[in-house]
Amino acid sequence: MTGAIQHWSPAGQERATTLLDRYPDKRSAVMPLLYLASLEHGNVTETAMVEVADLTGMSSAQVQAVASFYTMYKRDEVGRYLISVCTSIACFLRGADEVLEAVEEESGTPDGETSGDGTFSVEHVECVGACGGAPAVQVNYELIEGVRHDKAAALVRWLRDARPETVLGDEMQELFGGQRSFDWAISETEGAIAPVPAFGPYGSADT
Ligand code: FES
Repeated sequence: MTGAIQHWSPAGQERATTLLDRYPDKRSAVMPLLYLASLEHGNVTETAMVEVADLTGMSSAQVQAVASFYTMYKRDEVGRYLISVCTSIACFLRGADEVLEAVEEESGTPDGETSGDGTFSVEHVECVGACGGAPAVQVNYELIEGVRHDKAAALVRWLRDARPETVLGDEMQELFGGQRSFDWAISETEGAIAPVPAFGPYGSADT
């Protein structure tokens, strides 16, 4: 393994090795490696992009071009809990603006910003694919459907007071959600340990 990521956690280095072994052309691993770099650094830093460039044989400008195209690669520091409120049309029609307002007020964090103590980042996002369960909210990319404004405020209070290590969509759906788009038929047990989207179950070789 290259020296570029020798300061990464052993688990991170192992996952990077597994990923790189999977692709005959190392450039193909750029996106999952950017996720791993996010986990290691907390966000996609300049250093992270240089590391990924070194791993893939790309230039850092090429890696930056990929990282800057996708909004889920965060360039700035992100709070412990990233709360994403969908404000696209289906959610808008079901009160997403009030949901976003409740999240901003309860967390003291305006849309697009991170709270001073690093607990929350708040953002509005485009459709997250759960229109039938609008309004939809994600915490660290874990989905909750049918969230009304009062429940959104309660969700923020719960995150602040309980400070769960792992946020689990099913649990938050039960506590703060409403109508779901449909039964996803997947019982998820792993949850999210960081404000970084997973591309496989956390702790598996895919993450
Ligand atoms: S419009 Fe909000 S999930 Fe599709």
